[in-house]
Amino acid sequence: MIFDNLWLSIALVPGVLASQPSAPEPVEAPLRKLPWGQLNWLATTDTHGWHGGHLQEPQYSADWGDYISFAHHLRQRADEDGSDLLVVDTGDRVEGNGLYDASNPKGHYTFDVFKHQKIDIITPGNHELYKQNSSNNEFYHTVPNYKDAYIASNLDIYNPKTGKLQPLAQRYRKFTTKNQGIRIMAFGFLFNFQGNANNTVVQRVEDTIKEMWFKEAIQDKDVDLFVVAGHVPVSDSHESDAIFKAIRSANWDTPIAFFGGHTHIRDYHKFDKIAYGLESGRYMETIGFMSISGLGHEKTSSDIAPLKTPEFKRRYIDNNLYSLYRHSGKNETTFPTDLGRNVSASISAARKQLNLDHAYGCAPRDYWLNRAPYPSESSILTWLENEVLTDTAKNYTKHPQLIITNTGAMRFDIFKGPFTIDTTFLVSPFTSGFHRLKNVPYKAAKQLLQLLNNEGKIMLSEMMVMSAVHRDLGKFTPRALYELAPPNPPVSRWTQQTTQDGIELIDTLHREFGQEVLGETAGHGKPDKPLSPGYTTIDDAGKDGDDTIHAPIRFYDVPNCIQAEVSFPSDKKDLETVDIVYNEFIERWILLALRFLGESYGVEDVETTFDGMSFTDVLSEWVHKNWAC
Ligand SMILES: *[C@@H]1O[C@H](CO)[C@@H](O)[C@H](O)[C@H]1NC(C)=O
Ligand SMILES: *[C@@H]1O[C@H](CO)[C@@H](O)[C@H](O)[C@H]1NC(C)=O
Ligand SMILES: *[C@@H]1O[C@H](CO)[C@@H](O)[C@H](O)[C@H]1NC(C)=O
Ligand SMILES: *[C@@H]1O[C@H](CO)[C@@H](O)[C@H](O)[C@H]1NC(C)=O
Ligand SMILES: *[C@@H]1O[C@H](CO)[C@@H](O)[C@H](O)[C@H]1NC(C)=O
Repeated sequence: MIFDNLWLSIALVPGVLASQPSAPEPVEAPLRKLPWGQLNWLATTDTHGWHGGHLQEPQYSADWGDYISFAHHLRQRADEDGSDLLVVDTGDRVEGNGLYDASNPKGHYTFDVFKHQKIDIITPGNHELYKQNSSNNEFYHTVPNYKDAYIASNLDIYNPKTGKLQPLAQRYRKFTTKNQGIRIMAFGFLFNFQGNANNTVVQRVEDTIKEMWFKEAIQDKDVDLFVVAGHVPVSDSHESDAIFKAIRSANWDTPIAFFGGHTHIRDYHKFDKIAYGLESGRYMETIGFMSISGLGHEKTSSDIAPLKTPEFKRRYIDNNLYSLYRHSGKNETTFPTDLGRNVSASISAARKQLNLDHAYGCAPRDYWLNRAPYPSESSILTWLENEVLTDTAKNYTKHPQLIITNTGAMRFDIFKGPFTIDTTFLVSPFTSGFHRLKNVPYKAAKQLLQLLNNEGKIMLSEMMVMSAVHRDLGKFTPRALYELAPPNPPVSRWTQQTTQDGIELIDTLHREFGQEVLGETAGHGKPDKPLSPGYTTIDDAGKDGDDTIHAPIRFYDVPNCIQAEVSFPSDKKDLETVDIVYNEFIERWILLALRFLGESYGVEDVETTFDGMSFTDVLSEWVHKNWAC
């Protein structure tokens, strides 16, 4: 890569930079400025419990307390220059980090940490709804903590006190911004999720927008901006598109801002000239920033056109103190607010209580989920298949076994060094265990993987259509495929390249940077330090969305499912039957695929194996026995 543009060297502030005591110091890097405007937004989504920040990755090492301080300074800036700042969060706040998952009951510390951020619009995600406990926690904690801001446009809950079905929160929120007096009509949607526990009811978006309250809300003429926040992707989403069309059909000239989530990517989508959507990645890596200028309610008397065309801008902030100091114009002394510091301290105390830094063992090297090809020595999936699952399975039976797991069961990379209690939750927060089907004819079993990976002549989607006649197998939706496969790699748009290893998703961007970069110019030569690897997002507004200028990272596509063959005879021709052992989570797909292959099994044929250990337990057991520190 060639960076022949000006290079900016920024002096590092000495001293302890990060708020969690064990967090690494962020690395200096050239930054693009926030495109501040009339109405400014900070947006988070899919934080999944990472409110303590990333303790093994300097680039994302700021915590929720730092975010509180940051928002405070930007709010103050807005008050000083007469603009506005609003904060939004679009769900999946839970599941995926020890800070949430390791406590009993789960989330014991999370709600008290989270609630200190002042949020103007907050919505539920699907992860709040898998368990009855977690949706009840929304009812008992998050909704009351954010009484005015919580919006649930298409979600009802059986009130745990009365047993009656009711909206989880208000269906919409109309309010006026503090400094600019911008009149906002905000909604809070969840995609058409079907995997929730039976104490909540998700109403399909397409049905919700036909309801009277929604039709009336979008016909309100005293609105300067519609906001559609929600746990819904902004691009390629039939739900977002349907909402957009509905609003546009009632209001052809009112600007619309979407704040989305769920797919864990940085993304910015243009719906039309005055309607844009922002998605802020995952796991507290990204604080999304959007600004809208040219809003207002002085229309021409004929109401033909707004006075000027509103202008939308976006930026993806890498969540580390280096970025947060620069964007707020503060330094290590002036940045932390009292409240931010207190929240960081309470996160620290909770982590200590939960013993999250306790090491089961030490990883001898880095293992990657998407950053290494599969199969390969540095692939976490190869490690799982050849070592963890094989070793564990051998211990339980001498029969030939096929061990199958969905790659989505692995959520994150493993870094060289201590593999802690926290690591187990980051890598695999799932509580599901393993199930076994005994003596399955091998001629059917050997075709399973191909079917699950959509590689055969018959696609999983076709199996799903067939499954409509087999109701006992549960609900299948195309969205379910997303749950099977791992979350998208953390960069937005991809160029596909065919290499000798197969299809490789690679971002080959050569960055242009210049005007909008923060800091002083040190020279015009080549960088004296290589750029750190990180997000290099391409979205509907181009290539300049990321605040930090990074070298691109290669990402490799991985299959839906992987399989280990354990205790197989040297000649597979002799193999009549095998045991199939699989992650409980994919049971419905396994049974469906077998049925498709002519072998009818039901849940009554299934037994628990690995002594009922969860996926997380299997990992920590193996690490404890094999990776001494
Ligand atoms: C679910 O909630 C109940 C009641 O608060 C609690 O006793 C139980 O431990 C919770 N379960 C989990 C797994 O957190
Ligand atoms: C949810 O399922 C449980 C157990 O299957 C059942 O006891 C309960 O009545 C169901 N609740 C609702 C609201 O359907
Ligand atoms: C931080 O900024 C304040 C106010 O601008 C200044 O007085 C102080 O010296 C700075 N501290 C450091 C460590 O740079
Ligand atoms: C922060 O904690 C200190 C010590 O507990 C307390 O005195 C102070 O009021 C807290 N400040 C805020 C803003 O919560
Ligand atoms: C093998 O299984 C036994 C119990 O059946 C368990 O105590 C032991 O830890 C297991 N060993 C491995 C390597 O998983």
